[in-house]
Amino acid sequence: MNNQQTFHWTVDKNEENLKENQGIIEAAHLLQQGEVIAFPTETVYGLGANALDEAAIAKIFIAKGRPNDNPLIVHIARREQLNDLVQEPSEKARALIESFWPGPLTLIFKQTGSVAKNVTAGLDTVAVRMPDHPVAEALLLASDLPLAAPSANLSGKPSPTAAEHVWTDLQGRVVGIIDGGSTGVGLESTVLDVTGEIPILFRPGGITKEAIESVVGPIQVDPALKKDDQAPRSPGMKYTHYAPQGDLFLVSEKEEIQGYVDKWRLQGKMVGVLATEESKSNYEADVIISCGSRANLASVANQLYDALRAFDKKGVELIFAEIFSEEGIGLAIMNRLEKASAGRIL
Ligand code: TXA
Ligand code: MG
Repeated sequence: MNNQQTFHWTVDKNEENLKENQGIIEAAHLLQQGEVIAFPTETVYGLGANALDEAAIAKIFIAKGRPNDNPLIVHIARREQLNDLVQEPSEKARALIESFWPGPLTLIFKQTGSVAKNVTAGLDTVAVRMPDHPVAEALLLASDLPLAAPSANLSGKPSPTAAEHVWTDLQGRVVGIIDGGSTGVGLESTVLDVTGEIPILFRPGGITKEAIESVVGPIQVDPALKKDDQAPRSPGMKYTHYAPQGDLFLVSEKEEIQGYVDKWRLQGKMVGVLATEESKSNYEADVIISCGSRANLASVANQLYDALRAFDKKGVELIFAEIFSEEGIGLAIMNRLEKASAGRIL
């Protein structure tokens, strides 16, 4: 399944009346015919298909090489679409929708049974979000479908934040890719379970825990986010994710990084450092990549996946990375770094 022709449309997200754009119309038409299309969102690129069509959804799992027990997020463009998909949202869920949609917050609801069963991997809940990106919105409106879409990377790779990343992973494996430029947040949406009285954070992301709590009061954090020995409630969190090809190590004291680099270079390894704007000139290594400024963690979120992919391009074997504070978007950054390093913390 990796030799089909892949269409490529370039769409300017600032263009007026995007719903009438030729690329959007063609892509929407293919979605209605049960095909799979990659498109930009404000978080990462998604790989979308009709959420009501089981055969279309099956193609997503094949294209990505994704395990079948990992459910997908359903994307919508209009609030009314939620009524068909989920049972009566709680008061807190409604308040969160009011505050954060469209935006990078995915909510888990009790489902009605309207989506194809491979979307939810047999769970009685469904994840829904309304993306805040003009191209995603136009595609959702033009197709007039709820689109189930995981991140548009091969399973296990860092999520794509540019169309070029999607092309590298999925060219020949999907029918089309809409290039709408680089994404904004750069990390996947926050995933929050709102089926119970107290919301539970399954995956930290673009909307911070602090921002959510300012609307609905204290929330819980899925304990499995921190401990490897607990089965995560969000099935996707159990897989090694976001990983570059080289082995990534997180180093708690950045002063120790140079020592590790020197030791492994002496063994003949190609060694990289994942640094920041503030620290990049302090290191000597085969490849040094800054993932943004420590003074602006949003820039780190935005550039992290591109930085991880850049090490792959250069064939780096070992990567030593600085760590970050877990406040605000830092919680999501550290969650992805911990996954990418498979828990290797020095
Ligand atoms: O920002 C995003 O969320 C991107 C863009 C494309 O929208 N999508 C994305 O999808 O990151 P994916 O498939 O890579 O991650 C979806 C996460 C997984 O961890 C999955 O297990 C969880 O959401 N999830 C989906 N449905 C769920 C459900 N019913 N209960 C618990 N977790 C669920
Ligand atoms: Mg993903």
